[in-house]
Amino acid sequence: MIDNQTISQIKEQIDIVDVVGDFINLKKSGSSYKALSPFSSEKTPSFFVSPTKQIFKCFSTGKGGDAIEFLMLIDGLSYVEALKYLAKKYGIEIVENTNDNYSSSDHSKKESLHIILSKSVEYFKKSLQSDEGKKIAYSYLKERGFDDEVIKKFDVGFAIDKWDDNYNYLKNFGFKKDLIIDTGLVIEKNNKLYDRFRNRIIFPIHNISGKVIAFGARTLIDTSQPKYINSPETILYKKSHVLYGIFQSKNEIRKENKCYVVEGYTDVISLHQKGIYNVVASSGTSLTSDQIKLIKRYTNNITILFDGDDAGIKASLRGIDLILESDTNVRVILFPNGEDPDSYSKKVNSSLFKDYLIDNEIDFVTFKIDLLKKISKNDPLKKVDTIKEIINSISKIPDTLKRSVYVKESSLKLEIDENILISEVNKTLLKNNYSRKNLLKSEKAKNNKKLISIENVISLQEKECIRILVNYGTSDKNFTIDRLSFIKYFLNEIEDVKFNNTNHLSIIESFRESLVSKKPLDINFFLNHSDKDLKNEVIDLLSSKYELSENWIKKYKITTVEEKEILKKASLNSILRLKFRLIQKMIDNNIQQLNNDNLSEKEEKEIISDHQKLKKIEVEIAGELGNVTTK
Ligand code: CTP
Ligand code: MN
Repeated sequence: MIDNQTISQIKEQIDIVDVVGDFINLKKSGSSYKALSPFSSEKTPSFFVSPTKQIFKCFSTGKGGDAIEFLMLIDGLSYVEALKYLAKKYGIEIVENTNDNYSSSDHSKKESLHIILSKSVEYFKKSLQSDEGKKIAYSYLKERGFDDEVIKKFDVGFAIDKWDDNYNYLKNFGFKKDLIIDTGLVIEKNNKLYDRFRNRIIFPIHNISGKVIAFGARTLIDTSQPKYINSPETILYKKSHVLYGIFQSKNEIRKENKCYVVEGYTDVISLHQKGIYNVVASSGTSLTSDQIKLIKRYTNNITILFDGDDAGIKASLRGIDLILESDTNVRVILFPNGEDPDSYSKKVNSSLFKDYLIDNEIDFVTFKIDLLKKISKNDPLKKVDTIKEIINSISKIPDTLKRSVYVKESSLKLEIDENILISEVNKTLLKNNYSRKNLLKSEKAKNNKKLISIENVISLQEKECIRILVNYGTSDKNFTIDRLSFIKYFLNEIEDVKFNNTNHLSIIESFRESLVSKKPLDINFFLNHSDKDLKNEVIDLLSSKYELSENWIKKYKITTVEEKEILKKASLNSILRLKFRLIQKMIDNNIQQLNNDNLSEKEEKEIISDHQKLKKIEVEIAGELGNVTTK
């Protein structure tokens, strides 16, 4: 456990913009920052970070919270892990009251696995420096030209040639057998335990925040053994979500606004050694959509470096269509036959290598056209296939302008009338849009719209009232006179209003109590509240669209500055609107009763007289509202 003093020291240091900015590209927008949500695949940014409130809010998924919660969500960290991450980031030493007994059940399972994995990284690194390691593995790395700096940067290690040395090392720490097996490092077979990785170079695979979650292990000898053995999928490691090198490269990817994608571990390491730091490996497969999403947090420009053999290229072509779909700029660099980025980087010096990357980079669609043209040569049937392939790729691109540029380019290169291409692309687009899936989606959207009933309007209006109360009723310093009178005024105005939402009710109650006890309500009272639901509601209210969305502000000609100045008016307006809707609902409900055929004459009269009373109140409220809004 981390002691409280350290926790508050960490919390004081946190700047959420900085923390979130390590994971996604933030753009300044008014007083906050916005970005494409890392939690969904959206096209328009609905993810906001507020530096003044130190919170984030994702409108497409509804997720929100402080910097710690962001880390927990984005990286699956536990609370303690997130704190440790932040401590490391801000150079704060962690005082932990642990007795090194790792088998204790304090740690969640994920944390335990992280600890075992990090102990193993130490073990593999130590083995690399042991006599056996130096002789066999370290010398191999040197021979291949890797220097000490990159070996250290990527935590490269060695698994010695014994059956259960890694297992025994871990067991001596007191880790439980089952947990060790769950890391994927040790395999149980016929009641015997043995190490998965033996006599192999170890490449640890880090997640975005730098934790080791898996390993790739390369053989040192040419036998019938596979060249690489990798960790199996575990609760920490989902292969299709991970990119090798993302932790070491992410900042540079953002800075350069470009991500090179290579195939292998050694390619990533070699490029770093050559001074190219914005590179990740897909680890031998074509990119998955989750991996693309990961890259898109940092840049929209992906350049694939192909090993120079035909088989690899053809297999990857389809995978790349996935990148086109994600609205990313895809470029390609082809290496000379038989070379991969690693081997080629060893043949030329750093500046020549960098020049090669610049000179040989071509846009993907152009690359595909050239390639297919070469394959089809003069065979007309093959040419038709080629054209269909290209049309298919182009229709994957969501951006209309980009699509038309590619159509023009293809028409020139393939010597086909541009209009024919346009019509073919449009046909494909149409076919995709009218797929069953899309039709169902739009049908569902229509139904959802119908559901906006008076209930929804009331609950939105209720929320708006509470938003004002929470935003302007809490203080971080003293109870200023202004704030005090605002809260009194507000609570007085809602005296006869019935709120529905339990979170709203307890917020109102908290303000009532604070008036009685004369203690100002700090926003952290809610943000640190043990009731998670309440806490999330408040986060929601603090980052409400009302303040954050520019469109909204424009549409309603309201700025937050104005809102502050006309606080009482704004809150009265909002409360009246709520009352107005509540009355309308009462009128509705009242009238509904007339549907009953068994009403007595007396009952009917009562309903009608109620109706007149309610209508009168409705008119009164409308009048008041008119007074507030027209000025
Ligand atoms: N790979 C794998 N299992 C294999 C072969 C390859 O997982 N049996 C993955 C590894 O992630 C490897 C990548 O595919 O890094 C590319 O394979 P390859 O080009 O064969 O290996 P290199 O990384 O180039 O390794 P080396 O430079 O040592 O040949
Ligand atoms: Mn390779």
